[in-house]
Parts: sequence; structure tokens; C-alpha cells
Amino acid sequence: AYLHYTTNNTIFGTQFKDVPDSDVPLIADMSSDIFSKKIDVSKYAMIYAGAQKNMGPAGTVVYIVNKDLLGKTGNKIPTYLDLEAHIDKDSMLNTPPVFSVYTCMLTLRWLKNLGGVEAIQNLNELKAKAIYNEIDANPLFEGHARKEDRSTMNATFKLTDESRADEFNKMWADAGISGIKGHRSVGGYRASMYNALPLESVDALVAVMRQFSTVNA
Ligand SMILES: Cc1ncc(COP(=O)(O)O)c(C=O)c1O
Repeated sequence: AYLHYTTNNTIFGTQFKDVPDSDVPLIADMSSDIFSKKIDVSKYAMIYAGAQKNMGPAGTVVYIVNKDLLGKTGNKIPTYLDLEAHIDKDSMLNTPPVFSVYTCMLTLRWLKNLGGVEAIQNLNELKAKAIYNEIDANPLFEGHARKEDRSTMNATFKLTDESRADEFNKMWADAGISGIKGHRSVGGYRASMYNALPLESVDALVAVMRQFSTVNA
């Protein structure tokens, strides 16, 4: 048995703040918040993460595995799903997606030069603080996720008066902002703030939200 969970939910904009207690090996999908903050790798039997948020283009998955747990399934599993087979071949069991791997290397070098995970964690917290402060202070907006569960990667929010959506949508589009439409199952807006997004981009959205409230005051 094992316990699997996803550390950050990109759709709802929620994120686990603590590692769950578990008597069985813990496995986490960290696709959408890996390298965004410090984690205690020793608490996990396995961590995996698709590259496409904080590392590079889609096509690569990073695994961090406690090797003591390998080879214990007792089941016959397809070779490709057998991590030991991948490890035996130095992660080149099949043709690796070279472009994706290379771009991840460049991104990780960029992160290292920036001061590493600690530095990006500070920046990510600043970005999250900027957008959530505005959501809470501005009566024209309300957050989707419960405050204590808010994600530093994806801020989900909506207008308190949906009838003003066209006006707000025009304002942020005119400001050069794109891609903040919420997931279809949640609606509203989702501002994703992965590692590559600078603080200035969050400030630009906050400025539009403020301007919108001034126009509607
Ligand atoms: C936490 C998490 N897991 C899995 C996925 C899906 O990844 P893929 O589209 O590569 O299956 C996503 C989104 O990309 C995600 O945020």
C-alpha cells in the first residue's frame, strides 16, 4: 500500500502546506510546484513531476525515488513502468526527449544563478502575497480557495458581480495580460505564477484590478 497525493491543485488553486502523516510510503505528484519551495525529500518514497510548469517544456518527467523501495511490487509490470529498468539504463531506456531535457537544464541553471530554491521561494511568496492581498482588499473580487489552502502557484478568484466581466476582461487584455481565464470547472480567473513569471507581471494584474475598482467606485 502507499499514499499518493498531489501537492498543488492547479485547477482549484489549492496547495498542501504540510506533508501528510502516513504509515505507508508516501508518493507525490509535484508537477505544478516542484522547485517552487523547499521540501523535505526524505519524507517521500517517491516524488514525480512533469517538467511543464517550473522546469521546461512538456515531455520530461523527473522522478526522485527512494531506491530501497524498488523491486517490491510482487507484480509483473510492463518494462516501461519499471523504474529499476530506467535507472539501469541511466534514464535512457528509450530515446530521451533531448530538447525538453536540455531546456530543463538551462532553466535549472537559471534557478541556481538566481539563488536556488530558497530565492525563488521568497519571490513566489511575494507574488502570491501581492495578488491575494488585492483579492482580499478589493470588494469587486473574491478568492476561490480557502485562505489557509491558497496556492502560491495558481491564484483562483472571481468577480463579485459577474455582469461586469466583459469590462474587466477588456481591461486586462488591453493591459497586455493573457491566459488568466479560470478552468472550465471553476470559472472566474486563475492567475498562474510559476517560477518563470516575474513579480512585475503580478503587479500588472493587481494594477488592473485596482483600476477596475476605481472605475466602478
Ligand atoms: C499536478 C499535476 N499533475 C499532472 C498534470 C498533468 O500532466 P500531463 O498533462 O503531462 O498529464 C498537471 C498539469 O499539467 C498537474 O498540474
